[in-house]
Amino acid sequence: MSGSLSNSPQEDDVSCEGGEESLVSCEGGGNATGPSPAIAPGIESIDARAAAVEIANSHNGKGIDPRIPALVPGFDAPFFQAGLAGYSDAAMRIIARRHGCPFCVTEALLDRTLLAGGRGFIKADLGEIADNVPGGEEDHPLAGQIMGSDPREMAASAIKMIEQGKRSDRAYREMAYEDGKFADPEQHQQLPEGVHVGRRDPSAGGAHGQRSFEVIDVNLACPVKKIKSKARGGHWLAEPEGAIRILEAVREAVPPEIPCAVKLRRAFDDTPEMAENFERIFAAAYDIGYAWATVHARTVEQRYVGPSRWTFFRELRAKHPDKVFFGSGDVWRAEDIFLMMKYGGVSGASVARGCIGNPWIFTQARALMRGEPSRPPTIAEQRAVLDEHFKLLVAVNGSMRPGLPKISADGAPTWSEKHAAKLMRKFGVRFSAHHPGAEAVRLKMIAVKDMADWNRVLDAHYR
Ligand SMILES: Cc1cc2nc3c(=O)[nH]c(=O)nc-3n(C[C@H](O)[C@H](O)[C@H](O)COP(=O)(O)O)c2cc1C
Repeated sequence: MSGSLSNSPQEDDVSCEGGEESLVSCEGGGNATGPSPAIAPGIESIDARAAAVEIANSHNGKGIDPRIPALVPGFDAPFFQAGLAGYSDAAMRIIARRHGCPFCVTEALLDRTLLAGGRGFIKADLGEIADNVPGGEEDHPLAGQIMGSDPREMAASAIKMIEQGKRSDRAYREMAYEDGKFADPEQHQQLPEGVHVGRRDPSAGGAHGQRSFEVIDVNLACPVKKIKSKARGGHWLAEPEGAIRILEAVREAVPPEIPCAVKLRRAFDDTPEMAENFERIFAAAYDIGYAWATVHARTVEQRYVGPSRWTFFRELRAKHPDKVFFGSGDVWRAEDIFLMMKYGGVSGASVARGCIGNPWIFTQARALMRGEPSRPPTIAEQRAVLDEHFKLLVAVNGSMRPGLPKISADGAPTWSEKHAAKLMRKFGVRFSAHHPGAEAVRLKMIAVKDMADWNRVLDAHYR
């Protein structure tokens, strides 16, 4: 695989801007390397275009293992947009979907943030933006990803995600911290230690009547350090019993009709003990009833540095021929999705850094599956996305401060607009790479302060 994309992420791309998100983010902390060819000896003999067509024709022409759309209607192609802390909010997800992405994952939300009713939850709560964004309903199917240290907190926050705040914040906290409040032995949903909670009324929707998450994804992959020596994210790969307790608690709490999935790294580090831990957790997840695992083929120790090891996927597929699992790591171009599938035998690929500022990767993947070449976006297509993304960001951020105006009335930038500009500067670094005058455009984009600035850049460079 080439890995020599023109929109190469730079070292600093993975450092989300500080503030609240940095506490829960899975960001690379600035130590990620740019696009690298994955470790995949012999992959050069695979023709990605032929592989895409072969995959499109597989499963009776459905192009995806039918168990996946059976679990998640609408998930109709073998790739999805990964959780990307600091990036993959509703705006980025909607843009991806408009370019053919069939399924998205939120960034990892810390269970405690959710239970505290904090910003993490509001960010994921699309009901807040349904009135303002013509895509509130559009942002489905969606997995809500959670991460944490305590099985009960994880279970209670999974329920809170699904219910989208139908009960009071306090009620969810009581599920996590106080016994018996929702005790009802007739009900299925259950927290660890046998505490039952009321069953969700699937027709009721969330607090705002909107659709909920279609999947709950448990993050056992994030490399961010332990807090107060408590494991979370990828650190659970070094403590398999604890990891399995969390998986059990979440599966037990989430209504049976909602699939649970798990995000893993291939191991905590490269020792044989950690390889065994991975295998134990991976197998346990399916035994407990998880629908699939997404495996990032770097170790936790590796964070985002160096290549992903695609040979690991081959070995995993050989050991588990029937399991649905997705691969993650070093998908930089649409072609890589099909190379990973053909080489590693994964059921599909998770697209992560490769889709930041590059929603066209999904259009290109769909084109490849139709037997067409993947073509770069025209300037007009780029402009349309840059305009759309900014507006969606204003709407999404406006939803976090419901009382504030969403559009400038008298030309003065709103809070949402200023915040959107800050986010757009990060995306601009990647978006500009598609432009023939990339460097000049990048410098303009990273200086924008509001929508008027943004529009000036578009008028100057994207006519
Ligand atoms: C900035 C950044 C934030 C990330 N946030 C999350 C996250 O919240 N949840 C998650 O499952 N993975 C997260 N990841 C990991 C990616 O989903 C993916 O597994 C990883 O980047 C490897 O894929 P890539 O090499 O194709 O980028 C993050 C990665 C980056 C670079």
